[in-house]
Amino acid sequence: METIKLNTLVCLFCLLGAVIGQGAYDWMTYDAFDEINDRMDAITPENCRAKPVAELMLNPDSVAQKPVSNKLLSQLIYPNRTCLLHLHNMALNRAYFYSYMNQALNETKTEFHMQPGLMYYYMSAEADVAANPGCINGSAIMWDNHYTYANWYTNLEFNHTLPLFGARAWRFDDYNEPTNWLREPTNYTINIEDYGAGQGSNYSNSDYKLNEWYNMWMPDADSSLDSLRKHTYDVAVHFSNQTGEFINKEGYEGRAFFGPSSPGQREIEHLPVKYTAPYYDCGRSNKWIISATSPVLDYVPRYIFNWTDLSRQRFVGAIVMDTDFLKIDLNPCPAGQGNPPPNMFQNIARCDPTTQCEPHHGWGFKRGGYNCACRPGYRYPAFQNGPYEGVDIERATNTEHERGFQCLETGWKQTLPNLDGERPVDTGVIPGLGRKKRAINSRKHVESDLVKSRKKRTMLKSRTKRKTPVSLKETFIEAMNVVIKPEIEVKERARRHIVSKRALPKPEEKITKEAPKVKRSFVPRYERDTSKHRVKRDFFDAEAFERFQRIDNHRLQVKADNCHLMTKDDLFLPGDVAYGADEQLQNQARTALRMAHFISNFMENIDFYEEYGTLRGDRPLNYEQLFGEVMANVMADYKIHGSGIFFDTDKFVNLDGTTRQYFGPYAYKASGTRTKVVDFAGFDGEPYINDDWFVNIKERWQSNVYGLKKWTTKALVRSDLKGTALNRFEHYPMFYRAPALDDGQWSKPYFDCGGHTGINDWVITYSVPFFGMNSLRTHIEFKGVATVDVLLAELDIHQCPMPFHVPNAFKSTARCHYESTRCVHLPGKKFNKGSYKCECRQGYEYPFNDRAWYYDGQTMESEYNKMIAAEKGESNPDEVRHRFHTLKCRPASAPRIAGSSILLLVIAAVIHMMH
Ligand SMILES: *[C@@H]1O[C@H](CO)[C@@H](O)[C@H](O)[C@H]1NC(C)=O
Ligand SMILES: *[C@@H]1O[C@H](CO)[C@@H](O)[C@H](O)[C@H]1NC(C)=O
Ligand SMILES: *[C@@H]1O[C@H](CO)[C@@H](O)[C@H](O)[C@H]1NC(C)=O
Ligand SMILES: *[C@@H]1O[C@H](CO)[C@@H](O)[C@H](O)[C@H]1NC(C)=O
Ligand SMILES: *[C@@H]1O[C@H](CO)[C@@H](O)[C@H](O)[C@H]1NC(C)=O
Ligand SMILES: *[C@@H]1O[C@H](CO)[C@@H](O)[C@H](O)[C@H]1NC(C)=O
Ligand SMILES: *[C@@H]1O[C@H](CO)[C@@H](O)[C@H](O)[C@H]1NC(C)=O
Repeated sequence: METIKLNTLVCLFCLLGAVIGQGAYDWMTYDAFDEINDRMDAITPENCRAKPVAELMLNPDSVAQKPVSNKLLSQLIYPNRTCLLHLHNMALNRAYFYSYMNQALNETKTEFHMQPGLMYYYMSAEADVAANPGCINGSAIMWDNHYTYANWYTNLEFNHTLPLFGARAWRFDDYNEPTNWLREPTNYTINIEDYGAGQGSNYSNSDYKLNEWYNMWMPDADSSLDSLRKHTYDVAVHFSNQTGEFINKEGYEGRAFFGPSSPGQREIEHLPVKYTAPYYDCGRSNKWIISATSPVLDYVPRYIFNWTDLSRQRFVGAIVMDTDFLKIDLNPCPAGQGNPPPNMFQNIARCDPTTQCEPHHGWGFKRGGYNCACRPGYRYPAFQNGPYEGVDIERATNTEHERGFQCLETGWKQTLPNLDGERPVDTGVIPGLGRKKRAINSRKHVESDLVKSRKKRTMLKSRTKRKTPVSLKETFIEAMNVVIKPEIEVKERARRHIVSKRALPKPEEKITKEAPKVKRSFVPRYERDTSKHRVKRDFFDAEAFERFQRIDNHRLQVKADNCHLMTKDDLFLPGDVAYGADEQLQNQARTALRMAHFISNFMENIDFYEEYGTLRGDRPLNYEQLFGEVMANVMADYKIHGSGIFFDTDKFVNLDGTTRQYFGPYAYKASGTRTKVVDFAGFDGEPYINDDWFVNIKERWQSNVYGLKKWTTKALVRSDLKGTALNRFEHYPMFYRAPALDDGQWSKPYFDCGGHTGINDWVITYSVPFFGMNSLRTHIEFKGVATVDVLLAELDIHQCPMPFHVPNAFKSTARCHYESTRCVHLPGKKFNKGSYKCECRQGYEYPFNDRAWYYDGQTMESEYNKMIAAEKGESNPDEVRHRFHTLKCRPASAPRIAGSSILLLVIAAVIHMMH
């Protein structure tokens, strides 16, 4: 009777659990994640207008580790923050560009009409969004009250201004459009609106709820902080007006303009880019977004010629770049190195104390974006292949949570042998971490027998923990390798035996030479790929490594002073050296892609000089604007060394209607921090249209533009100067065709030898085509190429094993001991050897007591070099000691033999005698 009641009760509880879902188990407590989740759920597109500001905003610390401008060079930005970094850089990019334009063209009335027009603002913002799917979902420039010198109204004097003007573009979720029969967002429709028009448009007002980006910079009345918040940038320009000649024969002319601050390392307050708290984009995209914002400067009032003393550099607008809050990774791990405060979600991960938490990349705002790897000194139970996944842990029931997801203590640990000739010493267990009860993962009943036997051994082990005579220690460890095999491995021994012989490559043989012969043949090769049940053959590829050496030597050999002695072929490296550029330098490539989008859109859609009522059509693109664009690309991204826009022959039209044979504004980082911009048309000699990066792209696109994607623009403009209402733009919707990221390409690495801009270094170039209407305005034609150059030294190399078809010159050159460890790439180490780590494979454990749980690639490389030097007899006797052959993991079986310590000692002694 009792039991039946109890059962019903339990069942009731499990029903309840099923209904409530997550959070129903009592080990799950209400945490910061739930809090934010609930707050987001409370806001809908229908009720958001009525909610107070506080409810439309989340805590600023709900996004951690935002990239900070003055720390970019000294801090590693991981893949989980590259989108935020790009947001940051693009905000800065536009801020530089508009600040430069405002101030460069302030002299005369003709220059006034060379300023960007309305569609320039619109299409620039649109290109930010279109070229960056998956990162930038909104882009805007928001002007302060009466600082816009608009040149696009026929009824506005040139020295008069518009009240608020804000051009904002955002990706429109068009799943419900009548033309979209797939009912899936195409991501190719972009809405643009003027925020300064229509009802409730006064974003400078404090009642306007979501204008944090405005309040951060404006109104800018206090001039006492000018020296901290503003910076004068020195740039140099070199114009050309005909092929092979520059206008100013003496060289570059310096220009200065006021821009966002350029803070020193220690500044924390007056940064050039700030982030808003995440907020609900009410009435527009109706999503939770976060914005990076940067100020636009001008020297105002403009056009008061003889009284410029009255002018002052001011913040006149803000660039606002938005991304989806839900797509930003959170770090649920405990505070510590790699997870500095402020972080609201600190410590919401549910790792067992025997494990440590590592965040996953690409999870966004979701639970379970982490895994729990064993702490140093612990190892996985035999059934567990690699770290415990956060999603499994978050789904666990009470029982599972209590018993599962733990790691087992490693028995004997060695300290690192040092060069004083000491032998490895066992120091027992790392203090501080209490030993846990053996874990039983209830979901893995299959292994329960194994688990039971292990449990017994763990208990035994604790009794036998003590010091062993030092001389026996090494012998003991080797003995373990010889005699003991984990049960699961026994089953497969025969098969793996064969494999291990076949797959052992030559160089490995050399490496393990010093180890006892018997050991190698007995080391189990546990390399089961659980998904496919076949042995993966990771190995060190000696040939690839030799090639790596050759390439690297060649790379270092070519220098500025000898490059002109080389043949043309010597100035190229094979294409597979640049492996990984697509991914690592994607945001730099997208900066060029953005240019291509903007120019294509502009040249395909603008009816130059066309007037719509009082609205004046845009002028053609002019040299000042494109100089400004490439300059901003280079200034805003420290990885971009150079950036250019290169027009094909006779495709660039001057303001006076004449065509230029060549026009190629190119900006680059000159010595120091100064950015220089030069028109490549001015150099005599071989024109740029014969360069590889130009020719390749032109050949593909010149005669055939099939395959270009089509974007849709829905633009609303203000009905009059005051912005009484928002109307559809004359052309609604507009369309443009432009390339996607794949339509451009990365060049192979080349040495820019004595080039016009004096890079004299190894470079890779991403080039992407842009298009425009032909002269009859009947169809689209190829107009030129937009590029970015990145120094090869910025690229990370991947040395881990990869499948045969991956075009990576450096694959399989990592020095891991593949039988017991596996290679994991470490990002951010640039073009240096050793950017990987060797982690223990399943069934193996890390034997040293040094707070690590893997071998660092740099250690592997340097120990290997020491070993080679010792073999060749090159090193001096003090350095003969190397420990390359000790850098491997041992079979995870220590507790078992520890159980029978007498037997062990006997075995050890026997082996000792045999040697
Ligand atoms: C144009 O701007 C520069 C600063 O960028 C300033 O020195 C110069 O006086 C301005 N010219 C006019 C006519 O306002
Ligand atoms: C941007 O917008 C698209 C379309 O609405 C959406 O699918 C995507 O998740 C958004 N966020 C990012 C970061 O791209
Ligand atoms: C604009 O310029 C005209 C002369 O061109 C001048 O008379 C007028 O005062 C100026 N207005 C402003 C607001 O500067
Ligand atoms: C639009 O973007 C979302 C997320 O960025 C993606 O899942 C979806 O497949 C995209 N739609 C198309 C048609 O490419
Ligand atoms: C280019 O500029 C130089 C110097 O100002 C001038 O002498 C020359 O006529 C110009 N050429 C053209 C084609 O405008
Ligand atoms: C500025 O002053 C100069 C003389 O100092 C005069 O020639 C010029 O016409 C003035 N410009 C304007 C716009 O008032
Ligand atoms: C991003 O990844 C790095 C390296 O894995 C990690 O240290 C950092 O905490 C992660 N940041 C976030 C916010 O997840």
